[in-house]
Amino acid sequence: MHEVAAVPPFVALAYLIAGVLFILALRGLSSPASSRTGNRFGMAGMAIAVGTTLYTHEIANLPEIIGAIAIGGVIGFVTARKIAMTDMPQLVAAFHSLVGLAAVLVGAAAYLTPEAFGIVDATGQIHNASRIELGLGVAIGAITFSGSVIAFLKLNGNMSGKPILLPGRHVINLGTLVAILGLIAWFYAMAAPTIDAPWLFWTVIALSFAIGFLLIIPIGGADMPVVVSMLNSYSGWAAAAMGFTLGNSAMIITGALVGSSGAILSYIMCKAMNRGFISVIAGGFGADAGPAGAGGPVIDRAYKRGSAEDAAFLMKQADSVIIVPGYGMAVSQAQHALREMGDLLKKEGVKVKYAIHPVAGRMPGHMNVLLAEANVPYDEVFELEDINGEFGQADVAFVIGANDVTNPAAKTDKSSPIYGMPILDVANAKSVLFVKRSMGGAGYAGVDNEVFYMDNTMMLLADAKKMVEEIVKGLAH
Ligand code: TAP
Repeated sequence: MHEVAAVPPFVALAYLIAGVLFILALRGLSSPASSRTGNRFGMAGMAIAVGTTLYTHEIANLPEIIGAIAIGGVIGFVTARKIAMTDMPQLVAAFHSLVGLAAVLVGAAAYLTPEAFGIVDATGQIHNASRIELGLGVAIGAITFSGSVIAFLKLNGNMSGKPILLPGRHVINLGTLVAILGLIAWFYAMAAPTIDAPWLFWTVIALSFAIGFLLIIPIGGADMPVVVSMLNSYSGWAAAAMGFTLGNSAMIITGALVGSSGAILSYIMCKAMNRGFISVIAGGFGADAGPAGAGGPVIDRAYKRGSAEDAAFLMKQADSVIIVPGYGMAVSQAQHALREMGDLLKKEGVKVKYAIHPVAGRMPGHMNVLLAEANVPYDEVFELEDINGEFGQADVAFVIGANDVTNPAAKTDKSSPIYGMPILDVANAKSVLFVKRSMGGAGYAGVDNEVFYMDNTMMLLADAKKMVEEIVKGLAH
């Protein structure tokens, strides 16, 4: 904290303004209606924080820094323009890994040249407080880095999404964590760590890289949303710890905001997935349920297939239709056609609502973002707990590219990888229209869905956008 107190007052004020803007950004991001404004607050806060830091620090080589910002900025800009919405979770995991790696590199630089960071006392030793900050910062950073790399590989399909379960993993994980904390305590207690025992510091980093890897490999596909938000939180704490080392209060504030908002998001996701928070942190939750895809999609069972005309006819007759969007809607970009379908149905006097499962799609809020993009009115969009009771009274549940989030196996089949996750009770509607491309394609968790084979279900097998466009034509007649 020593350096933080030494900053000139205008710097403290600028960082405070940046901090307030970050808080406003988080507030704005809590609703789709205000999320764009929230993003702008965040961008303004970051510009102030970066500008102030550059202005007030002795910059060794300005062209190098500007060059680095330009390279990073161009890569970020191009990636953001190119990335498909459905690939966002991988991108977020990749960004988290960079935050983690940055924390490790800053920590290593501070350890090797503590004088340059102003963290030495009169005898030339690293301050005790700085040792704790350094130890924790590099440990959390390394865990975030290796954990995020594994999350990226799993989400990107480079690595199997199935849980990889090492025998005795809980004992190994706990032992490694205790060893890391023990080494950090030792590092703190040592009189002259830089001179006497450099291995301590590097071992903390090595073990932390290992534990990040060990914590994430046992986590199965359907539980990845919780992992991503957890790593988001870790990346914030790593940045906050490094903020102390660098004596930069903006970094401490930002890191703490990211860390705590990520922790809250993880908690919300855990609740949504019906998973215990501790079992998430311990790793391998939901993994004893057997391999994802157990039982596999069964394609030789009897099911009813319908056409766009059938669907248009059925929905025109309905009093109420609940639309359940999922990942497939995002893949086919069917949201605009879907809004048009909703508008036509409303003209026919049908009540239209949209039901959003908290983990539908591939990132938190994925469906909300797409529906907002298509100008679906916010008051027609409902969260799971607010609408689930209404399926029983609905004439039609129109499931478009959603699968796992409607799968009753989550309630009935203890061996299912999604067991315990709350689902949207589409099966309770009088009729279910289920849009997907084939009977063979399973959802993210790789399991078959009983809803396909129910008497009141009609399968609409086609690309979601094409199917909805056909239905729109049918409704317009
Ligand atoms: P999924 O269970 O992944 O099902 C997607 C469905 O869309 C599949 O039935 C697929 O069948 C169909 N589909 C794919 N492309 C299509 C297209 N072009 N046109 C029509 N249908 C298409 O999706 P969900 O119900 O949204 O569940 C989300 C899953 O992802 C959960 O298991 C969740 O845990 C996991 N997950 C979520 C997140 C977050 S935070 N939301 C992050 C990572 C993972 P066909 O292939 O036969 O078409």
